[in-house]
Amino acid sequence: MSDLMYISKGPHRFVISKLFGKILIWLLIIIITLLLISYIYGIWTIELVYSVGHNSQKYGTFIMKARLPAFLSKYEKKKSLTDLMKEFPKVNVTDVTQIAKPTCKDLIRWNKTAIVLALIYQQNMPFARIPDAQYPILTADCAKFIKEKQYIIEPITKEEEEFPIAFSILIYKDIEQFERLLRIIYRPQNYYCVHVDIKASQSVHDGARSLARCFENVFIATKLVNVLWGSYSVLEAELICMNDLWKYKQWKYFINLTGLEFPLQTNLDIVKILKIFHGANNIEGTVLRMNKDRVSYIHNMTHSTTISKGPPPVPVTLTKGSVHITASRAFVDYVLHDDRALKFKKWVKDTGIPDETFFSSLNHSPQLEVPGAYRGIPESDPNTYPLLTRFKNWGSKPFDYPCYGLRVRRICTFGVADLKLLSERREMFANKFQLNFQPMTYECMEELIHNRTRDEQRGILGFDSTLYDSFDFIHNHV
Ligand SMILES: *[C@@H]1O[C@H](CO)[C@@H](O)[C@H](O)[C@H]1NC(C)=O
Ligand SMILES: *[C@@H]1O[C@H](CO)[C@@H](O)[C@H](O)[C@H]1NC(C)=O
Ligand SMILES: *[C@@H]1O[C@H](CO)[C@@H](O)[C@H](O)[C@H]1NC(C)=O
Ligand SMILES: *[C@@H]1O[C@H](CO)[C@@H](O)[C@H](O)[C@H]1NC(C)=O
Ligand SMILES: *[C@@H]1O[C@H](CO)[C@@H](O)[C@H](O)[C@H]1NC(C)=O
Repeated sequence: MSDLMYISKGPHRFVISKLFGKILIWLLIIIITLLLISYIYGIWTIELVYSVGHNSQKYGTFIMKARLPAFLSKYEKKKSLTDLMKEFPKVNVTDVTQIAKPTCKDLIRWNKTAIVLALIYQQNMPFARIPDAQYPILTADCAKFIKEKQYIIEPITKEEEEFPIAFSILIYKDIEQFERLLRIIYRPQNYYCVHVDIKASQSVHDGARSLARCFENVFIATKLVNVLWGSYSVLEAELICMNDLWKYKQWKYFINLTGLEFPLQTNLDIVKILKIFHGANNIEGTVLRMNKDRVSYIHNMTHSTTISKGPPPVPVTLTKGSVHITASRAFVDYVLHDDRALKFKKWVKDTGIPDETFFSSLNHSPQLEVPGAYRGIPESDPNTYPLLTRFKNWGSKPFDYPCYGLRVRRICTFGVADLKLLSERREMFANKFQLNFQPMTYECMEELIHNRTRDEQRGILGFDSTLYDSFDFIHNHV
């Protein structure tokens, strides 16, 4: 059954005057040229969404970029697994239970057979999950747990030992994924403040506490708040952790994470990158893309009122930033203790999405003598001020990469076919991963970072600092 259109050939005749004909031809030429130009410059770039299924079971969405006229985007092209296999190699899947699990190495290399097999494998093979409520039992004997899970309990290099990092991790669900994130970033010299959303289920709270109990340098935030996106509570949770972490004197940099992120570099590489930063922060900021209403009207939680808001109490440059920050210890000191920061903090409380304004604006206000603040134009740009803190695939410029996982509210949840890109990225962390979606993606990221850590320790893998020291924000800061 196809949807062919039949064009009826009627006995119509048109008499067109010569002049009219010429105008028509020129109009056509102009239109075609315009269409061609917009096509070449990718104005019409859209995504084709292929649903991938097997035995009429849908198990994911396969998205590919294609350049097509915008009017075609209405017809999202759905493709079945068999169609997908026309582009990817043919794989005989008569018995799905007999598929050998593809190796991470093949997936990272973009071996198409391995990718197709992995998609089928993940759909049909059970992946054992550990329920949140299991963690207090698993960690009852901490020494045993730490040994079994192979936590790194000695600093690997002197360089890392002398450069501790403070992390805040905001979580609200999935203790297993949180534990696996903690395991890959855990080093005895670092500090980890875990903020569990107060509305998370009891088993999530208990699971996180039972884990923290096993490590001296992992703790639950002293105060837990109800984190509501868009309200001051996001910033509050972050500040509680910063304050809790502050009492540990040794750490040099602060990085905040959520439970759905994963490192793209080893701890040693992150230390080397932060050393290159040399006091600079990596906090995004934009004036052009800032929503002025957020700071022009008083907000009640996430709702804007019509009451105007006065100017900030300090001469700050208002910018909008992303939710991911890497900040120097001196910056955190300023945020927690400087009078100007405290006044500004009070002021942002009733603005819209204050967490996106607060750190970003401080980082782009060298006039306030904020440590590590950028002196250049307050406008994030991949060439001068890239967000090395986080790799995110937003599907729009400048973060538009094909997403072979699943796009949820624009952001890509990575899948196995994204592993190649992830293995090549130079950012410190990536957002985001869901252990329930294509779980081999997470497994392979673990294997990749684990192997790199091992190979660096053996001295067979080095660190390439080019790229990192080339950016203006590293040389041009307070
Ligand atoms: C697929 O594999 C089955 C069993 O391994 C075999 O009987 C069948 O001939 C194969 N089909 C093709 C097209 O190779
Ligand atoms: C990690 O190392 C193991 C052991 O050498 C190897 O078998 C595996 O393929 C490596 N994985 C990756 C992703 O390179
Ligand atoms: C690609 O992956 C398949 C399935 O995992 C494997 O059998 C094959 O050897 C791989 N090819 C290469 C060139 O590594
Ligand atoms: C804020 O909004 C809530 C309900 O959305 C309302 O009950 C409360 O009175 C408002 N507060 C102010 C100060 O307007
Ligand atoms: C990091 O901190 C900023 C500023 O408070 C906040 O907006 C953001 O949600 C935090 N990000 C993560 C990943 O926790």
